[in-house]
Amino acid sequence: MAKLHLITYGCQMNEYDSERVAGLLREHRWELTSDETEADLILVNTCAIREKAEDKVFSKLGELRLLKTRRPDLVIGVMGCMAQLHQGTIQRRAPSVDLVFGSPAIARVAELVDRVRRERRPVLETGEGPLVKITARPPAAGRLKAFVTVMEGCEKHCTFCVVPQTRGRERSHPPDVIVDEVSRLAAEGCREVTLLGQTVNAYGRDLTPPTDLGELFARVNDVEGIARIRFTTSNPYNLTPTLIRAMRDVPKVCEYFHLPLQSGSNRVLERMNRGYTRERYLELVAEIRDAVPTMAFSTDLIVGFPGETEADFVETLDMVERVGYDNVFVFRYSQRPGTPAATMPDQVAGDVKAGRNTRLLEAAARTSAERSGRLAGRTVEVLVDGTSKKNTGELSGRTRCNRVVNFDGQGSASVGELAQVRISQVLPHSLRGTLASRPEEAACLSK
Ligand code: SAH
Ligand code: F3S
Repeated sequence: MAKLHLITYGCQMNEYDSERVAGLLREHRWELTSDETEADLILVNTCAIREKAEDKVFSKLGELRLLKTRRPDLVIGVMGCMAQLHQGTIQRRAPSVDLVFGSPAIARVAELVDRVRRERRPVLETGEGPLVKITARPPAAGRLKAFVTVMEGCEKHCTFCVVPQTRGRERSHPPDVIVDEVSRLAAEGCREVTLLGQTVNAYGRDLTPPTDLGELFARVNDVEGIARIRFTTSNPYNLTPTLIRAMRDVPKVCEYFHLPLQSGSNRVLERMNRGYTRERYLELVAEIRDAVPTMAFSTDLIVGFPGETEADFVETLDMVERVGYDNVFVFRYSQRPGTPAATMPDQVAGDVKAGRNTRLLEAAARTSAERSGRLAGRTVEVLVDGTSKKNTGELSGRTRCNRVVNFDGQGSASVGELAQVRISQVLPHSLRGTLASRPEEAACLSK
């Protein structure tokens, strides 16, 4: 069999796509290798969300070029968001690249690779294509947790974001197809699924008949073997009371909600075209905590959006305190080609962004520590996913609110099981605890 090496940058959706590609190529006698020097085909799955992500890809392509000088038959392909955004420019800037294809062409990857090998000339395939659910995966993919893409694309047009250009229109996969995929995963031993979409809470409105994420939760909840449902990413603009009820009522949906805020300043939110205000966001958080009091929130924040003043930034800091996030992802604003914000006046200097980045991370670390401190003495449900990194005699897993817990399994808990663990110690990046009862016998006490 010929050998394929895959390099994946970016988000979970890219990880999911890479797995599909490996599965599809396997059907055409391509075998995965983790060693790039022995590969006949190297595919780089790329991310275009920030300039830094792109720089990493070009520097990797530079390294691969050297490999190709030693092995001229090596085929190098670039897929994913940069392929869609930059198209022919990639091959001009990195001439060792033989193949460039966007997400719509993933289903035809084997045919494209064949074409490059047969014709020995560069191939570019970045047109629109029909939405296809590809469920092929490499055989070693049987695992405890898996991502499942439920919709593609985004039509929100936040002024900083390149995703609508790279991932196209919003299109949902039909619920039956998703439930089939989840059932297959469960049959292979998967216990946790994360439903993926750029605006996953807009799921289903484009289908006939229309449906929504809450209904999909209920369907996935019925799949035997699955213990936990997660979902990402939601947009505050599309958050409905129906979804809040579903988060409360569907038992397997975890108490962890990633709800990107981006900025705490109404002036900036408006220029970002986010479609909500800080007041509306706080109202939503209050409604959700009312329905699900133990809900943990995480968020994405951008510092240094064009025109962001110190006063705007302080409002973002204030939101971090008010919401009390469990987890915060901070990004320095990066100018993206073709987006409205890239040409806005008053671009913010790099050192100002860096300073705000640090201050925001400090504030986030404080709220996160405060949130995890609350778990001391509580008994929580842990999905055991392996052994502790520091002590292999101990088991490790995650709470429903996505915190890492290490504990002594006393020989009665094992990987893949739900254990009830009493938290005895709260550390900066993890929790420690003791087994409270035999796995899977108690109801979820974490609520
Ligand atoms: N669909 C998601 C966002 C996907 S992009 C949503 O609705 O929020 C992931 C995160 O990258 C975004 O939430 C944003 O915080 C960040 N991001 C996107 N474009 C960016 C840019 N140009 N510069 C800096 N950060 C950006
Ligand atoms: Fe990007 Fe906004 Fe869509 S951040 S992915 S355009 S919701």
